[in-house]
Amino acid sequence: MASQPDTGAPAVTAASTPAEIRAAVQKGRQTGRQAVSDHEGFLRHAKFRWLKIAVVLCVLSLIGYFGADVKPRPNGGSWMGYTLGTIGALLIVWLTLLGYRKRHMTRGAWSLKAWTSAHVYLGLSLIIVATLHTGFQFGWNVHTLAYTLMMLVILSGIFGISAYATLPQQLSANRGEMTQGQMLDALRAIDRQLHDAAQPLDRHYADLVLAALEQDPFEGRLFARLTGHYPGCTTRAAVEGFNRASLSEARDPTIQRIESLLQRRTSQLSLVRRHMRIRGLLEVWLYVHVPVTFALLAALTAHIISVFYYW
Ligand code: HEM
Repeated sequence: MASQPDTGAPAVTAASTPAEIRAAVQKGRQTGRQAVSDHEGFLRHAKFRWLKIAVVLCVLSLIGYFGADVKPRPNGGSWMGYTLGTIGALLIVWLTLLGYRKRHMTRGAWSLKAWTSAHVYLGLSLIIVATLHTGFQFGWNVHTLAYTLMMLVILSGIFGISAYATLPQQLSANRGEMTQGQMLDALRAIDRQLHDAAQPLDRHYADLVLAALEQDPFEGRLFARLTGHYPGCTTRAAVEGFNRASLSEARDPTIQRIESLLQRRTSQLSLVRRHMRIRGLLEVWLYVHVPVTFALLAALTAHIISVFYYW
């Protein structure tokens, strides 16, 4: 993989799969603390240059909107409406290009960090620019559809920014002093002990332990990762199986040792799953942000064509 982009955002993409997460965890790719300071990096980039530019754009739009004498009332079809609409449409196209820019990064004034900073603040300025463009005229039509999709993309972006601001701290709090790799090594160490300790067990109990050992700690789709709900968890099934041991079996030192190792495996697995849950939350918003962007581009095209068609 290429070196990390300097956007500051934690390294997640909408395409992350359990296998990719496994690779990331094993490489110990990026610590949460790094991500937090980097996150501040792109929001504060160049002393909030893009925040200031976005504020100026919003103020000029407001002055234009309230200053223009549009009769009978401001609307998207007035000269002011067209101006704001053109700025909004160009901004949306430019904002979409971040997806391309992310994959072709350079350093300096137009680094990915600068782009992401501009993306966030100019993206937010669309709330003012596009809303004024509509002249507050909404209905059940393709124009309002484009507006709604745009707001959905912006809302998901806001969610993404707040996730980047808070979740990396949770990620490192969950790991404690351990690195991601150590967290996984600890699970493997327990598994080795379980494997050795299970040798004298009879078939029924050995099968329970074997099923738990074969369980992939990275299994589970996005839904399972986000909710932390793993209905087919074989480690839990093994714990429950051993809990049903008869009184005499429960006194057996081998069974007692396995029970304690299974408990340790359960806690270590919860740690890994909490880790995956937080990583999932860091990426889930992109599943809305990116596809809805493409729906927005389609609706925007339809909006512009229909406006010129009925001109
Ligand atoms: C209509 C407005 C917007 C459009 C069309 C848009 C579109 C996009 C696209 C296409 C990407 C690239 C995703 C990828 O390829 O992985 C992106 C990334 C991003 N967007 Fe937006 N966006 C908009 C508004 C916003 C807003 C308002 C925010 C924040 C408040 C935001 C935050 C972000 C961030 C942080 C990323 C980088 C994600 C990463 O690198 O992990 N976006 N956006």
